[in-house]
Amino acid sequence: MHENKEIDESKQGEALMIESPAAKGGKKLFLESYGCAMNFSDSEIVASILKDQGFSTTQDFFEADVIFVNTCAIREGAEQRVRKRLTEYRKAKKTNPDLIIGVLGCMAERLKSQFLEEEKLVDIVVGPDAYRSLPQLIETAETGQKAVNVLLSKEETYADIAPVRLGSNGVTAFISITRGCDNMCAFCVVPFTRGRERSRDPETIVNEAKDLFEKGYREVTLLGQNVDSYLWTGGGLKKENPTAQELSEATTFAQLMEKVALINPDLRVRFSTSHPKDMSDEVLHIIAKYDNICSYVHLPVQSGNSRILEMMNRGYTREWYLNRIAAIRTIIPDAAISMDIITGFCSETEEEHRDTLSLMEEVKYHFGYMFAYSERPKTLAERTYKDDVPEEIKKRRLQEIVDLQVKHSAERTKEGVGKVFRVLVEGVSKKSAEELYGRNSQNTVVVFPKKNYKKGDYVNVLVDNCTGGTLIGNAVD
Ligand code: SAH
Ligand code: SF4
Ligand code: F3S
Repeated sequence: MHENKEIDESKQGEALMIESPAAKGGKKLFLESYGCAMNFSDSEIVASILKDQGFSTTQDFFEADVIFVNTCAIREGAEQRVRKRLTEYRKAKKTNPDLIIGVLGCMAERLKSQFLEEEKLVDIVVGPDAYRSLPQLIETAETGQKAVNVLLSKEETYADIAPVRLGSNGVTAFISITRGCDNMCAFCVVPFTRGRERSRDPETIVNEAKDLFEKGYREVTLLGQNVDSYLWTGGGLKKENPTAQELSEATTFAQLMEKVALINPDLRVRFSTSHPKDMSDEVLHIIAKYDNICSYVHLPVQSGNSRILEMMNRGYTREWYLNRIAAIRTIIPDAAISMDIITGFCSETEEEHRDTLSLMEEVKYHFGYMFAYSERPKTLAERTYKDDVPEEIKKRRLQEIVDLQVKHSAERTKEGVGKVFRVLVEGVSKKSAEELYGRNSQNTVVVFPKKNYKKGDYVNVLVDNCTGGTLIGNAVD
């Protein structure tokens, strides 16, 4: 199961490497990341800060001077995974007592100094808004003291730090456009681990995208917990009640996407995550207007039942959500739509579970990311509701949802057979060196014979076959 939609399961916990040659005599960093694309994007900020300190990266944590693990706290399973990983670092600490181990990201922010008590081998605990202080924290740790910085900020966006691209294919990259979240969904830990929502200066976003394009990148994904609430009013933190004057001078998400799309028609634009309560027709019209903004919307629903949605504090009903789906279908007829669903939320009945299945039937999503509800400390749900759906029932409901999605994904993939798609090549297929793979605008993977094409090319592919989730075809002219 994925932690989230953007980051492949195979990449979770993979050692992330700075691609530039190792700085001679410098210290070695082992950096690995878990969780969502925003966390992976933050690791690129961390790598940039440490590279300036003369660090190079290593894929072998036994030869590291510093091990950093960027953690996720979204579900209990995500945290257990990190705890397990820490037991492996213990072996490295035995052979190198000077080794510094730092825990970064959402789990660090959630547990704060409690982490140091629970996991004696950890030297540094640092939250997502405090990465600028990493050099000082390392210095402190080098003197044998423990170092903690979990301050959250209302302004920090790391807008001026040029991320070092890690584990990159050189074609696609992430750009963070907001940090934090103000939505307070009842089940969700993110507002506690990432703090208040703030938008990043659009000029720095456009410059980062331009720079990527000049370096050969051909696709950027604009990232935020709720991209639709992006609003730059000059100050960073979104103003609660902007005046008409301030609003007329502000940059909205639709305007930001347009600015990025206008950089070059060969730079594809993706975005994630859209929020059903905030996704406007204006945004959909901008997607439809520009060929290089991808026809793909990730629109988490969480539940198909309005009572559960209300308890989840999602800010929309089933009917509202389906109205947003209808708007996508009308304005962007070729769009693929994907979702996140949580099953077994507090007090969810069998009938309410069937509402989720029936909503899936109505939408017939291209992709889906499905989870059993996991209670998180401090959240509204933990404080006010009982986590009362038994584990076996959660498990069975999740299986029903997954089975239906597998069927829908296969049907949606099949619809691509016989069509020609413009595919951005991301690399050589894992299965055969003679084949390339890339994705179409709808975000489906397409595989085809290599010929003289290469990574970063746009290729028109006529699809003649498919597997459950992959389209197979041949390049046409
Ligand atoms: N900002 C995004 C979601 C980020 S978290 C949004 O609002 O849609 C990614 C997904 O993890 C969520 O969409 C949700 O489906 C799932 N998730 C979050 N908290 C969870 C919990 N406590 N238990 C199970 N799944 C959870
Ligand atoms: Fe969590 Fe809701 Fe914010 Fe998404 S919108 S990050 S689910 S609080
Ligand atoms: Fe992302 Fe996990 Fe944090 S999903 S925002 S890394 S809790």
